[in-house]
Amino acid sequence: MHSYKELGLVNTREMYAKAVKGKFAAPGYNFNNMEQLQAIIQACAETRSPVVLQVSSGARKYANQILLRHMAQGAVELSETYGARIPIALHLDHGDTYELCVSCIETGFSTVMIDGSAHKFEDNIALTKKVVEFARRHDVTVEGELGVLAGIEDEVQHEKSNYTDPAQVEEFVKKTGVDSLAISIGTSHGAYKFKVKPGESVPPLRFDILAECEKRLPGFPIVLHGASSVVPEYVDLINKYGGKMENAVGVPEEQLRKAAASAVCKINIDSDGRLAMTAKVREVFAKNPKEFDPRKYLGPARDELVKLYKHKNEAVLGSAGKA
Ligand code: G3H
Ligand code: 13P
Ligand code: ZN
Repeated sequence: MHSYKELGLVNTREMYAKAVKGKFAAPGYNFNNMEQLQAIIQACAETRSPVVLQVSSGARKYANQILLRHMAQGAVELSETYGARIPIALHLDHGDTYELCVSCIETGFSTVMIDGSAHKFEDNIALTKKVVEFARRHDVTVEGELGVLAGIEDEVQHEKSNYTDPAQVEEFVKKTGVDSLAISIGTSHGAYKFKVKPGESVPPLRFDILAECEKRLPGFPIVLHGASSVVPEYVDLINKYGGKMENAVGVPEEQLRKAAASAVCKINIDSDGRLAMTAKVREVFAKNPKEFDPRKYLGPARDELVKLYKHKNEAVLGSAGKA
């Protein structure tokens, strides 16, 4: 057993309580490799933002669980070199089994998501409750999910979004004991979130559902997944330098700002980071086809990620200065 406490990490209890009270959202940034992690830490430390480092089951397989634990510990030490301690949580994103959650808790994660949203309501409750019972013994916090996002959730694909039914949220939270709840209000995973014609604006998120959930769970931390804006400048760069990402579109930043000022305590962003990296790597290769030193293309990609995450913290989530 390797407790997250030995690694200098924190669970999300205090972080989310502050976010709800302070009307901002903590960033939930996914990472798979060293450059992404370096950029997240630099951006969050320099903007004095708390951060939730997110690892999907695919990312865990990719990066290796032993290395991940050491990377998380390294991230804490690295953050301190920027002059102030920021709260850092290590989170399993979209855990789909009890066993995976247990394994993550035993190998240094401070927070886990058990995503039972594809199951029937009662089965989702039973699975989530079981994870919460184990997590409590180790002072690890748990995120549950009600409602299904359209798009791809790790290996599970959902064609259509099933918005969260606000009538179910109180019972779910009460019976499971979760610390935070991901809800579905119209966001989706990936780079193709809405089908809109060029020039058309995307449909607004269902703030009415969010407001109803808040009313039924006063002060309770709500989580928003699928919240990349699919930054058009990156999509354009990708397409300019040989990519083919037509009709890629995300959630407008104003809508995320509005969500961050509500009981939404964490906003998950993965795709925007992927786009930023891909755009920069493509640009380097297109401009210098002779380049073959990975530092020469991953370095600029990492620099762009730092800019992106700082912008999110400062201008979208409101988490800058809240560490
Ligand atoms: O919600 C999904 C995240 O973007 C993780 O994606 O399963 O491809 O690592 P992944
Ligand atoms: P995006 O694909 O919009 O970045 O969402 C990421 C996410 O929800 C991770 O859980
Ligand atoms: Zn997600």
